[in-house]
Amino acid sequence: MLSRDEVFDELGIGPAWRLREAPAARAAAASVQPHLNWEELADAVAHCTACKLHLTRTQGVLGVGDRTADWLVIGEAPGADEDRLGEPFVGQAGKLLDAMLAAISLKRGDNVYIANLLKSRPPGNRNPEPDEVAACRPYLLAQIELIQPKLILALGRFAAQNLLDTDEAIGRLRGRVHRFQGVPLVVTYHPAYLLRNLADKARAWEDLCLARRTMRSLA
Ligand code: URA
Repeated sequence: MLSRDEVFDELGIGPAWRLREAPAARAAAASVQPHLNWEELADAVAHCTACKLHLTRTQGVLGVGDRTADWLVIGEAPGADEDRLGEPFVGQAGKLLDAMLAAISLKRGDNVYIANLLKSRPPGNRNPEPDEVAACRPYLLAQIELIQPKLILALGRFAAQNLLDTDEAIGRLRGRVHRFQGVPLVVTYHPAYLLRNLADKARAWEDLCLARRTMRSLA
């Protein structure tokens, strides 16, 4: 029987989360079996009732792409289009994400897997709540265990801060290589933010170049 702290360690839940989200994280840990295969994981996400978002979502959105990809892209949560179609990043932000990937010679589905921190849409596109993030975390960890990516690209403040268990601003998190569960992680702006803040596209390009350099250095 694992101790509470060993369960948190296993789930990669850092000290800040332990203080804020201990009950939800414990419940999430208890509700997800370790070492799921893809079928079991897809089934678990489709039938998940671990948080209140299951009451309002159309469907759980697991992720899309190459299940043996070197690149894992992680966004925030499904929006209205993703909730309807069951695939991450299919709206306007998704088009920009595809263009960002193409800029470094990558293509959705080809050595790239795209997922979100949350598998269910928060109603009205509100920000995900901490207990929802904690409840969904085991699914992302299961995906990472199955994919074994070489590099994670975190899109936006929300994904970056939650994955890195920090409140630091995205401007301070980008521009260097972090680690998540031992996997190198690069932070860039969320495509939905870039659609509204065109001036930051140049910075996003720098981030993509850093990610590409990091990947090349791993090869
Ligand atoms: N924004 C996200 O973070 N994820 C999606 O899947 C769509 C929009």
